[in-house]
Amino acid sequence: NKRTKIKFLLDSNKIGDSVTVMGWVRTKRSNKSVSFIALNDGSVIDNLQLVAAPDVVGEDTLKKISTGACIKASGDLVASQGAGQATELMVTSLEVLGEADPEKYPLQPKRHSLEFLREIAHLRMRTNTFGAVFRVRHALAFAVHQYFNNKGFFYIHTPIITASDAEGAGETFKVTTLDLKNPPLTEEGHINFKEDFFERETNLTVSGQLEGELAAMALSEIYTFGPTFRAENSNTTRHLAEFWMIEPEMAFFDAEDNQDLAEDFLKSIISYAMEHCKEDLEFLDKRAEEENNKKPTNERSELGLLERLKFVVEHDFERLTYTEAIEILRNSKPNKKKKFNYLIEDWGADLQSEHERFLVEKHFKKPVILTDYPKDIKAFYMKQNEDGKTVAAMDILFPGIGEIVGGSQREESLQKLTSRMEEMDISPEELHWYLDTRRFGSTPHAGFGLGFERMVQFVTGMGNIRDVIAFPRTPGNAEF
Ligand code: 4AD
Ligand code: MG
Repeated sequence: NKRTKIKFLLDSNKIGDSVTVMGWVRTKRSNKSVSFIALNDGSVIDNLQLVAAPDVVGEDTLKKISTGACIKASGDLVASQGAGQATELMVTSLEVLGEADPEKYPLQPKRHSLEFLREIAHLRMRTNTFGAVFRVRHALAFAVHQYFNNKGFFYIHTPIITASDAEGAGETFKVTTLDLKNPPLTEEGHINFKEDFFERETNLTVSGQLEGELAAMALSEIYTFGPTFRAENSNTTRHLAEFWMIEPEMAFFDAEDNQDLAEDFLKSIISYAMEHCKEDLEFLDKRAEEENNKKPTNERSELGLLERLKFVVEHDFERLTYTEAIEILRNSKPNKKKKFNYLIEDWGADLQSEHERFLVEKHFKKPVILTDYPKDIKAFYMKQNEDGKTVAAMDILFPGIGEIVGGSQREESLQKLTSRMEEMDISPEELHWYLDTRRFGSTPHAGFGLGFERMVQFVTGMGNIRDVIAFPRTPGNAEF
């Protein structure tokens, strides 16, 4: 297989080379003497133009080639006559590997809506938009590993199947091998999970954090990067039932160290994508601009996609406490006519996404790190502040996205942590293994979780989270 990827053929210093390419046909235009075939192999957003004469490659072969077909072509690279790219391939031999019936192939060359493409998610990666999104997604994932590797963090694989609900939100998917139509019962008539595969109730993980903490209390600085699952019934453009999360956890870090790391990390992976995905991001930037122009004027974002990425990388994030944010929100109106749909009258209420977006997009116009939330709206493991009311939490809010990171310094005191768990009705016995980190050699430590798809959304400018993961899992949707 002497195949060369199209990515390596598009610049002018390849002129004169004899090469073989394979890929999928985007378009074919023919006149009597020659056919022009735009070929894409996914290695790069650009197509390679093939110039094929029927008397060289055969009339019958050309007839079988239509949009979506897979072909193999050999020939010589020559300087391109047309504008746009430096080289094209003068084909000397052509083979059809797989035809695509033009009557049936759904991706004919025209503009398709994202809604339509979502219905054919198994084919949509063959479009320019999704090709670009998934190359950027790859680059961001690679950048995550590179960032932490360079800093001496260890990648830990935490379990997918677990018996705990780290966030305590009760939004877990159950895992069982029992026949639930006819389950074994206990004497009291409850399902007898002792007869289940793991001899107990289990679920898919909502977060790798608790296990990540165990690792940090041994290896000092670790991160996880894996799938997480939440059965929250939120049909929004920011929620998936199955999403990927990156969770660094660091011994000897306090809340401020955690904020510094998170800000540096986010900027670093965005910069990596800007540097390594230039063509894809330029394409997505144009796409985002078209989308933006379709919106009503007061909802349009001032900055284009690339400008927004550059801005975020170059400016300090705004840092303030929840209490300070509430003060700002109470004294603000999102626009002249309207108040917030959700008024923040009482200290202690959780912020709605309209509040988060107001702070980020209208008030500060930059990413915001919100800290020190009321303890009652945050998870049990967060470090309790001196005031007795707040915890050392941090959420990072991004323009166009809202919450992209959630994290905290962790409560290191066994006694404080246990009593908080009891207040929240979480059984210390069930989590005895977690509490051992506080029982034996406890120390201040902190960490955070980045929702990977939300970061991919931010960098690609895609409005719907279903369009940045290959096979989205949302309520009522688990095909493929
Ligand atoms: O704020 P969350 O729930 O925090 C945790 O899970 C902590 N254990 C993290 C930690 O401290 N190690 O989730 C973290 C991030 C959110 O900020 C959001 O970006 C993303 O995960 N997220 C989701 N992304 C897509 N779909 C969902 N349903 C999400 N729920 C959370
Ligand atoms: Mg959160």
